[in-house]
Amino acid sequence: MSEAARAPLPEGKAERYAALRAEIAAVVAGEPNSIARYASAACLLAQTFPDRFFWTGFYLVDPSRPDELVVGPYQGTLGCLRIPFGKGVCGACARTLQTQLVPDVHAFPGHIACDSRSNSEIVVPVFDKGGALAAVLDIDSTQRDAFDAIDQAGLEAICADLLTAP
Ligand code: SME
Repeated sequence: MSEAARAPLPEGKAERYAALRAEIAAVVAGEPNSIARYASAACLLAQTFPDRFFWTGFYLVDPSRPDELVVGPYQGTLGCLRIPFGKGVCGACARTLQTQLVPDVHAFPGHIACDSRSNSEIVVPVFDKGGALAAVLDIDSTQRDAFDAIDQAGLEAICADLLTAP
């Protein structure tokens, strides 16, 4: 699907997330390969909020090193390749299995600065069909305090569907 073929999305943020959730679900429906799902979601998320989303992508639980995340599909500048569980914002999400909403990354203990232009960040866990952690969705912004409860709810809904929807 080319960008020109995308239907216009609503202006309101919550409505935009609801439309985006339906769009991602439609694009990935029937796709058994999880990389294809992550890549499609990263693309559509980044295109939907280009002003706020500076880095948009997934860190995957590495099956050969289960306490480590390895970079997966993303849109943005060069990301770090590996993040141990417990380290930085992504590692905190992987360890706690909870969304991390960080208004100022410079105040977050252990924050990993893959790109020094990032100022705020949200990281959301992605679970597989069996309920195990499969990945985290990491979105960074150059703006401070770029993410709020509407972003959290919208992104959590998209991540809940991503690997579980048929
Ligand atoms: N800032 C993240 C690392 C990943 S990147 O920014 C792409 C963190 O602290 O987990």
